[in-house]
Amino acid sequence: MPRRSPDIRAFVLVASASAVLAACAPKALTPAPQAAPAAAPAVSRVTPRAPGEDRLVDSLLAMMTLEEKVGQLNQLSGLADPTGPGGAEAGVGQIRRGEVGSLFNVIGADTTRKIQRLAVEESRLHIPIVFGLDVIHGYRTTFPVPLGEAASWNPEMGRQTARIAATEAAAAGIMWTFAPMVDIARDARWGRIVEGAGEDPFLGSAFAAARTAGFQGNDLRSPTSIAATAKHFAAYGAAEAGRDYNVADISERTLRDVYLPPFHAAVCAGVQTLMSSFNEINGVPAHANRMLLRQILRGEWGFDGMVVSDWTGIGELLNHGIGADSADVGKAAIDAGVDMDMVSEVYRKALPGLVRGGRVPQAEVDDAVRHVLRLKYRLGLFSDPYRGISAAGDQAAMVTPAYRAVAREAARQSIVLLENDGNVLPLKKTLATVAVIGALGADTGATLGNWSGMGRPADAVSVLDGIRRALPKGNVLYARGASPVSGDTSGIAAAVATARRANAVILVVGETPDMSAEASSRATIDLPGAQMQLVRAVRATGVPTVVVLMNGRPLALQELDSLMPAIVETWFLGIEHGNATADVLFGDYNPGGRLPVTFPRVTGQVPIYYAHKNTGRPSNDSTKYTSRYLDVSFTPLFPFGHGLSYTTFTTSAPRPSATTMRAADTLQVEVDVTNTGSRAGDAVVQLYIRDDVGSITRPVRQLRGFSRVALAPGEKRTLRFPITARDLAFHDGSMHLVAEPGTFTLFAGPDAEHGESAKFTFITPDGAAAPVADDCR
Ligand code: NOJ
Repeated sequence: MPRRSPDIRAFVLVASASAVLAACAPKALTPAPQAAPAAAPAVSRVTPRAPGEDRLVDSLLAMMTLEEKVGQLNQLSGLADPTGPGGAEAGVGQIRRGEVGSLFNVIGADTTRKIQRLAVEESRLHIPIVFGLDVIHGYRTTFPVPLGEAASWNPEMGRQTARIAATEAAAAGIMWTFAPMVDIARDARWGRIVEGAGEDPFLGSAFAAARTAGFQGNDLRSPTSIAATAKHFAAYGAAEAGRDYNVADISERTLRDVYLPPFHAAVCAGVQTLMSSFNEINGVPAHANRMLLRQILRGEWGFDGMVVSDWTGIGELLNHGIGADSADVGKAAIDAGVDMDMVSEVYRKALPGLVRGGRVPQAEVDDAVRHVLRLKYRLGLFSDPYRGISAAGDQAAMVTPAYRAVAREAARQSIVLLENDGNVLPLKKTLATVAVIGALGADTGATLGNWSGMGRPADAVSVLDGIRRALPKGNVLYARGASPVSGDTSGIAAAVATARRANAVILVVGETPDMSAEASSRATIDLPGAQMQLVRAVRATGVPTVVVLMNGRPLALQELDSLMPAIVETWFLGIEHGNATADVLFGDYNPGGRLPVTFPRVTGQVPIYYAHKNTGRPSNDSTKYTSRYLDVSFTPLFPFGHGLSYTTFTTSAPRPSATTMRAADTLQVEVDVTNTGSRAGDAVVQLYIRDDVGSITRPVRQLRGFSRVALAPGEKRTLRFPITARDLAFHDGSMHLVAEPGTFTLFAGPDAEHGESAKFTFITPDGAAAPVADDCR
C-alpha cells in the first residue's frame, strides 16, 4: 500500500481540488465546452483534439519547472514489486513535490481519492495523478482470458467484456488499463500468447479495436471509461525460441504486415496510450526505437497520445547494452519517443541533468509532458480529478447478475469443440454416475486464468461445481488424479477406481494459469506433470471419457488426441467457467468457438501458423525433398479456425461480385452457409485470400473476413464480405504498401485448411502495382 501522510484526513477537509485548480488556473485554461476538429490528422479516425486541450497543456507547461515536467513522466507502482524487480513505493513527499505523474497497482476509490487529494491540493501546480492497472480480462467479474475470448470470433463480445471491466475498475479509482495486449503470437512456447488474440493480424486487429472501444467507451470523461493501452509495441510475440523477453529478429516487411496491424487498428479506434515492449527488434530495443515510435506511430499513423515504457523497460536498456549509464539510456528512450517511465526512475534521476547539459533538447521533454497532460485532460482530470468517483465507489456493485450473465455467454462462446468422434458429446443428463477427474477440475482459482485483476476464486465456478449444478440429482464423483505441476502419480490409482464406478468420465487436464503467463515460456508444450499418465490410465478403463482442456496456449496433443474421442478446449474462462463448460458438455449450449491459433502435433513444429509461405518445395508428407519432417507430419493437429459443432454446416464457394477488380472498387464476396443438421448452432464462416503471384512471396492464405452466425436447423444465410485493394496489399521490395495486378484466389470455409475457392483478377491501368494508403480500415 502507498504510504500516507499522517495528516491526510486534514486534506479531505480543505477546499475541493477543482476549486483549487480554478483558483490557480487562469480563465483561459478552462476547457472549451465543444470539441472541434483540429487540423487534418494523418489518419482519419484519430481523436480530434479539443481546442481547450492544447491551451491548457501549453499554459501548464509554461508554468512548470524542469523537475516538475520530469515528474509528470515518472510512473511508480504503489505496491511493492508485484510484476518485476525494482518496484518502488511512491512516497507522499514525491507526490507533493510533483515528482509523480502516474501511479499503478493502487486500488480502491477511497485510496486513490486520498492520494489524488495530495497531488491536487499539496503539489505546487495541482496536477492530478493518473492511476493505472493491468485490467486485462475483467476487474472483479473475470471473463475468458483474451486468447480464449478471441476463440469466440466475436469482437463485439470483446467490446462488451472490456466495457464491464472498465465500469468496475473505474468505480475503484482506476483510470487507465494496460490493455489490450495486441501482440501477434505464432510460437506457443511463449507464455504471453494467452494475453492476445492469437496468430492472425486480421482477427487480432478486430479484437484490438473492439477491446479499445470497450475500455474507453464513447466518452473518455465518463466515470465508466478508462484509457486503454495497446501493448507491447512491438513484435514482442516474435521472441526468438518463444523465450520471454528474447530478441525479435524479423524483416521490416514482417513487422509491418504481421505484427503492426493490430496496433494500427487500436490507434484507429482511438487508443490513448501504447506501451513499449521489452524486446529488441533487429538490434534496436523497442524502448529506444525511433523508427517505431517516431516514424511509424507518430509520423505515419498520426498518433498524438502517450507512450509508456514497460516495467523498468528504460532501465533495462543498460542490459541490452545500448548505453553505459542511466544518462545514456534515459537519453536513448526520450530521443526515441517513450514518454513515461514505468518504475525505473531513470527519467526522474537523469533527465534534468541531460537537459541542463544540453544532451537532450528541452523540447523533447516538453513534448513527452504534453502527451501525459493530454491524457489527463482527455480523462477529464483537470475538471474533476476524482472523475465523479466518490469513496463510496468501493461499495459499487461488482459481479452483478447482469455482468455474470455476460461472463457466462462470453465463456460459452469461447469454448472450442476440438474433437467429437462418434458424437460422444453432448452427454446425457440421465447418466446415472459421472466422474470428474483431474486437479484442475476442482480448482476454482484456476478458472480465472492469469492477469485476473481483482477476480476472486470465491466468485468462480469450477468445472466440478458446474457439473454438479447441471446434474442436481445425478451422482457426481470426483478424483484428483495427477498434478499438472509435479510428476506425482500417487492419485492415479484412486482416479482409475473412481472412473470404473462411473458411466462417463469428464477428464479435466491442462495447465495451471501461471504456466501461460509472463515469464512462463515452456520448452515443451505437452500436457505438463503426470497428466498424460492419468490420461492413459483412464483410457485403459474403457469408460467413455471426454477431455476438458484448461490452458492458455496451444498444447501439443498428438497422443491425447489419438487416445480420446472427445476434446473440449475451455481455456481459462473466468468466473463462469464451470457453468459454461457444463452447458456445452450436456448440450444446453452448442459450441461455436474456433481456434484463433494453430495447434501443433508436437512442440518441435512451432512456430506453426496457417499464413505460411509456400516455399520452393511445398510441404508434402509423402515426398522426400519437400519442406517437411521425417518424424511427424508437417500439418497441424488442429488448424487455425478449427472448431466443431453438435450440428453440421455447409459453406458455399465464394462468389465475387465481379471477375475483375480495380483499385477503387469494392468487390462484394458472397458466401452461403447452411445448417444441415438437426440442431441450432453458430457457424463461423471464414474468408481467406491468396495473391497467386507477387513480386514478394505471399502467404498461402490470409484471413480477410469472418462472421459468426446463429442458424436454426435447415436455415441458410448469405453473407457478404467486402474486399478492397487494402485487403490485397502488402509491403513491396521498397517497403511501399501496394496491391499488385494479377489473379487472386478466395477461399470460404470452416477453417484455414478447408473450403471452396474462386478467382478474380486485380487490374491496374498500366499493369503496375497500385499504391495503397495505410489508412484506418
Ligand atoms: C510488465 C508487463 O510486461 C506489462 O504487460 C504490464 O502491463 C506491466 N508489467 C505492468 O504491470
